[in-house]
Amino acid sequence: MHKPLIIANWKMNPATFAEAVLLARKIERGLAGIRGVEVVIAPPFPFLMEVGRVLKKSKLGSQDIFWADIGPYTGEVSWRQLKEVGAEYAIIGHSERKLHIGENDEMINKKVRAALEHGVSPVLCIGERERAGNDIPGTVGEQLKNALRGVKKSFLKGLIVAYEPVWAISTMPGARPDTPDNAFRALVYIRKTITRLYGRTAGETVRIIYGGSVKAGNIASFLREGKMEGALVGGASLDPKEFVKIVRIAASNR
Ligand code: PGA
Repeated sequence: MHKPLIIANWKMNPATFAEAVLLARKIERGLAGIRGVEVVIAPPFPFLMEVGRVLKKSKLGSQDIFWADIGPYTGEVSWRQLKEVGAEYAIIGHSERKLHIGENDEMINKKVRAALEHGVSPVLCIGERERAGNDIPGTVGEQLKNALRGVKKSFLKGLIVAYEPVWAISTMPGARPDTPDNAFRALVYIRKTITRLYGRTAGETVRIIYGGSVKAGNIASFLREGKMEGALVGGASLDPKEFVKIVRIAASNR
């Protein structure tokens, strides 16, 4: 069993440098004395360095990564540059990037491979846009398979799969968190898919977390009943009190 992993995905927030540093400081202060949990903060690119300086208990993550190390790729940020500022994790393939930027499976695959091969842990986001009933749609497995194409088994240790049903993300119209039962179904489905691709040990040990309207009020159920190993937290990660509460509950639910 891994320690629970709680990742703050700040998305394109906050607006200013000062607010970002303050938010990171408040979170860090709140984390003092909490043990047995891993915390990652993923601020926007321009704030990575300064936020990174504030972090002691938590690790630094980025919200995206590019596959090449250097060169003519206007607007992109490479794995090498991210490592340079101390980012150890990179969120990859978030549904908002697919929706607004047109990121596709092939790009996601290149990013996952580059991250894994260069020692940055990818937080690979997969999840269906819609779901009818309780069955996890096959598109989730397809996303996972496509993202892992060409990834060697020996690299899987660094991988984190974030199951985020898109309809459950708090900013989606009519959003509601998934049920812990369904999260568990997704977990089993993801483990089976990995087992089919890489064998049983890999399937049983890959780290899987849940994302989608996670709050202090529901985190325990995703960890306990959903058997998820952590959470990717958007909206609630911008509220330091709520976020620290989530971390504290996760730490006591090991
Ligand atoms: P949410 O976002 O916690 O606000 O639902 C999660 C995410 O999009 O990563």
